[in-house]
Amino acid sequence: MTAPYLIPPLARWLGCQRIDLAECASTNDEAGRLARAGARHGTIVVANAQTAGRGRDGRTWQSPPGMGLYLSAILRPPLPLSDVPPMTLAIGIGLCDAARATGAAVTLKWPNDLLVDGKKLAGVLVESQSQGGKLEAVVIGIGVNITGRLPAEVAASAVTLEDAADSEIDREAFIAAVLAQVEHWVDRYVAMGLEEIIPAWQDRMALGLRARATIDGTLLTGIVSGLDDDGALLLLGDDGALHRVRSGDVAIVEVIGPTVAAEPQRASC
Ligand code: BTN
Repeated sequence: MTAPYLIPPLARWLGCQRIDLAECASTNDEAGRLARAGARHGTIVVANAQTAGRGRDGRTWQSPPGMGLYLSAILRPPLPLSDVPPMTLAIGIGLCDAARATGAAVTLKWPNDLLVDGKKLAGVLVESQSQGGKLEAVVIGIGVNITGRLPAEVAASAVTLEDAADSEIDREAFIAAVLAQVEHWVDRYVAMGLEEIIPAWQDRMALGLRARATIDGTLLTGIVSGLDDDGALLLLGDDGALHRVRSGDVAIVEVIGPTVAAEPQRASC
């Protein structure tokens, strides 16, 4: 059965120009090239497969043909360079809402992952281009596992949207939902800043996770406990202290409880 989408509001500028590719190395590389050549704000690149899909910290993003959404967008927001990294949080909220509209119980893991029961559904990769300290463009890369049998390397730690929603996903309807929701949250972040999106991110964050992070060179394990006002992750360490994680990555050690607070609602527009 196809997921019963209610039609999301359409994006106004995100996806105003769309380039579809059967295959490329990485849609972020393609979008980066287009951005340097002057492509307009809102241009997107969607590939059916990537041969060198990448994630944060140089990780590989498995991108077999037809199994995922591999999408990159070029944004030209009026922001200083220093305001680009938290944009990941805004994009995560939008992507989470689009995925939840399928009925999947999706949560957010800091800073850029979407999870279902502690398994990775999607990731966001934000890269910026600047000249003389001035932001020229932001390339946002979105990867979502949608369908099929996951590659062996990630099968134990990842999940597809079809499995999570227990229904068939209409790829184009899902892309439309992603574009509309991501546009909405990016617009909010650009217009109103981080304080406008922190509560929304916290509402969607994965609960019940024991995780590991490196803070100032020290490896620390604790319970994921919230998001600070500046977008840093709060980790209640095994030492009893509340620690702030501002950069790097957070690895899940164990799922110790329900990861969602309540049943996610299907979209009602
Ligand atoms: C992560 O989880 O670290 C981020 C993964 C981002 C993957 C997407 S797929 C589309 C775009 N092209 C890439 O090479 N990466 C991003």
